[in-house]
Amino acid sequence: MKTVSGFSKMSKEQKIEWLSEQLKGDSSELVKNLNLYWHPDKEVQKRFDEFSENTLTNYDLPFGLAPNFLINGKVYSVPMVIEESSVVAAASLGAKFWLERGGFHAKVISTRKVGQVHFQWQGEKAKLVNFFEEARIRLLSSVETITANMEKRGGGIVGLTLVDMTDKIENYYQIKVECETCNAMGANFINSILEEMAQVFKREVMMDSRFEHTEKEVHIIMCILSNYTPDCVVECSVECPIDELGNVNGLEAREFAEKFATAVRIAEVDPNRAVTHNKGIMNGIDGVVLATGNDFRAIEACAHAYAARDGQYRSLSTVSLAGDKFKFSIKIPLAVGTVGGLTSLHPLAKTSLAILENPTASELMQVMAAVGLAQNFGAVRSLVTTGIQKGHMKLHLLNILNQLGATPEQIEEGKTHFSDKVVSFTAVRNFLTQSVHTH
Ligand code: MEV
Repeated sequence: MKTVSGFSKMSKEQKIEWLSEQLKGDSSELVKNLNLYWHPDKEVQKRFDEFSENTLTNYDLPFGLAPNFLINGKVYSVPMVIEESSVVAAASLGAKFWLERGGFHAKVISTRKVGQVHFQWQGEKAKLVNFFEEARIRLLSSVETITANMEKRGGGIVGLTLVDMTDKIENYYQIKVECETCNAMGANFINSILEEMAQVFKREVMMDSRFEHTEKEVHIIMCILSNYTPDCVVECSVECPIDELGNVNGLEAREFAEKFATAVRIAEVDPNRAVTHNKGIMNGIDGVVLATGNDFRAIEACAHAYAARDGQYRSLSTVSLAGDKFKFSIKIPLAVGTVGGLTSLHPLAKTSLAILENPTASELMQVMAAVGLAQNFGAVRSLVTTGIQKGHMKLHLLNILNQLGATPEQIEEGKTHFSDKVVSFTAVRNFLTQSVHTH
């Protein structure tokens, strides 16, 4: 590929043309594909283009529905956007299983988010501490124009502290701002506060007569919210008497419960297993995060940091078998919003929220935690009973058949043929070749 300047200024058509000129060989198929996924409605397309930069086309992903989630006595049908086969099926199965056993019990523990002004300052620490205490009210009122609306909705700044980090990096301090952001994820809100407050802080230090020489200078390194939100946490659990688990995929209730509990404990003690275990949880959560237009990178980064909060990476879910009761729970930080950002701009994010009957951010946290737990339950249930490949391969088979251009008849024949055979790309290709010969 050649380098290019002014790419962002080109129209979408010009960008695609430029790209096709760079590619060796016939690029007509590629160009056709890029054009194929544009939205037919120009206004909608314009909106998609404006989400990001240098857009060439849209990238479709399946939007599915996992019904029958009974959470705190209310039934939800949960929209999920996910490309991986079996995920929506597992979530739905998990939801159905627990629908008959009391459903999911979810509770938001707290919803506090943090932003940090990172700065360096050289001088007598006690002076800075005293100054900060005196300046606190002024710092808070300096951002009133930003916080006023959020305060009306019941949120705003709920904590403002000076953090001494000089034992880690020379002269390094933070202003830690804790916020309640109501139904918004709050990134813009928090970042705006931080940037404004940092400037006021810098100015006030410069003008304060108690500081002299280097003490007058605050070097702002950066102002940014933290995506680590251990105080924006939700808990969710399912429970029933062990006997009521019934026979699960051929395993009698107690045997299943014990095997399941051991599998979860393995994920508590072994990071190799824990990462895969938590990936299964995130299969469910990310599906809802994407469907509702939330930031899946933030959710992922935070979930995994939280899973390692005691120094070792562990399972986000836990199981207990006390008193003949099977209890399966998850505790996870989920900083999500139901207003602002993509949630209100992406037409399908809005649709997802409407399907969820326009939840508050706290309610959405509960739904996501329940889907994560259902997903985890479904995955571990398969793993300790039939194995994961059986379910996976059913959908995988369909994907391979479609990929190889199978006709509807061949798809049906393929499903029967492979019901008791191992699915592989080669095996499916051989099956299709034979089927062409015999027809
Ligand atoms: C696959 O996407 C997710 C699983 O590997 C999760 C797990 O192992 O628990 C099945």
